[in-house]
Amino acid sequence: MEYPKTNKALRFSSIGGPLALIEKEVPLLPAYELLVKVHAASINPCDIQLWRSGLVGVVPGDKGMGRDYSGTVVAVGSNVKGWKVGDEAFGLLLSPLKFAQGTFSEYINVNPASNPITKKPGCFTHEQAASIPPVALTAYACLDWLPPPSASQRKVIVRGASGGTGTWVVQLAKVAYDCHVTAICSGKNADFVKSLGADEVIDYTSQDITSTLLSTRAATQPYDLLVDCVGGTDLIPSYPQLLHPKGAYVTIVGDKTDVNTAGGPLTYLTNPRQIYRYLKGYLLGPRYACIALYKSSHLDQVVSLAERGEVKAVVQEVIEGAFDEREGWKKAVEYMESGRARGKVVLKIP
Ligand SMILES: NC(=O)c1ccc[n+]([C@@H]2O[C@H](COP(=O)([O-])OP(=O)(O)OC[C@H]3O[C@@H](n4cnc5c(N)ncnc54)[C@H](OP(=O)(O)O)[C@@H]3O)[C@@H](O)[C@H]2O)c1
Repeated sequence: MEYPKTNKALRFSSIGGPLALIEKEVPLLPAYELLVKVHAASINPCDIQLWRSGLVGVVPGDKGMGRDYSGTVVAVGSNVKGWKVGDEAFGLLLSPLKFAQGTFSEYINVNPASNPITKKPGCFTHEQAASIPPVALTAYACLDWLPPPSASQRKVIVRGASGGTGTWVVQLAKVAYDCHVTAICSGKNADFVKSLGADEVIDYTSQDITSTLLSTRAATQPYDLLVDCVGGTDLIPSYPQLLHPKGAYVTIVGDKTDVNTAGGPLTYLTNPRQIYRYLKGYLLGPRYACIALYKSSHLDQVVSLAERGEVKAVVQEVIEGAFDEREGWKKAVEYMESGRARGKVVLKIP
């Protein structure tokens, strides 16, 4: 494969400023990196948050959009082991050193030692593979908070179960951890979430979540884990009653509700009550944590489960022509500006 001379990418220069298609020369490949031709990249809430919150403001010059991708390796650095030109791969640009780079780009540089990446199996299209990394890895990070198995089946509540991350928490809680799953989503998504393995579904648009959960808890055993993929404080007053003392309330968002501001552990700084909750839970239980994805090895486990047909990657919409102002680009920008971006919306990169 010929080494490309130029690279086009969707980039922005100021916080929340306009996205522009910028063409640059492709620099020589560092010895520890792969050059990947991107075929698909998904839009995630964190892309909007990085674009609008100023978190990447510290990076000088224009900055890239998009963090996850699926593509083909077109060049391999001299010190990289285990990869060859032509390998199909999917992964996530996680390292802060790569904040200036984005995956809404024809080509990206990836250091496989510091960024989650794995070979794309045939059972995933590039569009499906591009929808997986941040949400599946975050789901694994949440499920790490399950207490150890005991005589009875562990019980998990997933709030935001129909979303990018929630769909993975539901599936992995069932197939990788053999849990009983109670999913919270809107009624229109109830059948979909059941098809992913949820045992029970509560519709937050027509049911009182707190009283429904408390009455179920009173009739059976306490829950082991509550995974919040929505944010806010709706279930904060009731989680100590819902969970048993060794259980945990884990949120990937925090107390904030604004879709444009950065969530995750950063919210410990903006909402000090979260620190109090964390310390109180650590000492007295049930535990409380606001977390971010941190493990990269789990992508291989996702591939194994998918090859056995035990999990699926759900794509809500594929946007064609991502670099054409009249076609996909306009639609992608509309998604991002409206804050309706989902991990399940995938851009096809030309
Ligand atoms: N900390 C981290 O490492 C990390 C990683 C990934 C994502 N996140 C954050 O997690 C959040 C969700 O991300 P995502 O990719 O999963 O987003 P998403 O695909 O937009 O999913 C959010 C889901 O929440 C549901 N929802 C909205 N209000 C709800 C409510 N009151 N009760 C129950 N469900 C409700 C929606 O379901 P319906 O359509 O059924 O209403 C939607 O499917 C974002 O804020 C994102 O930034 C954090």
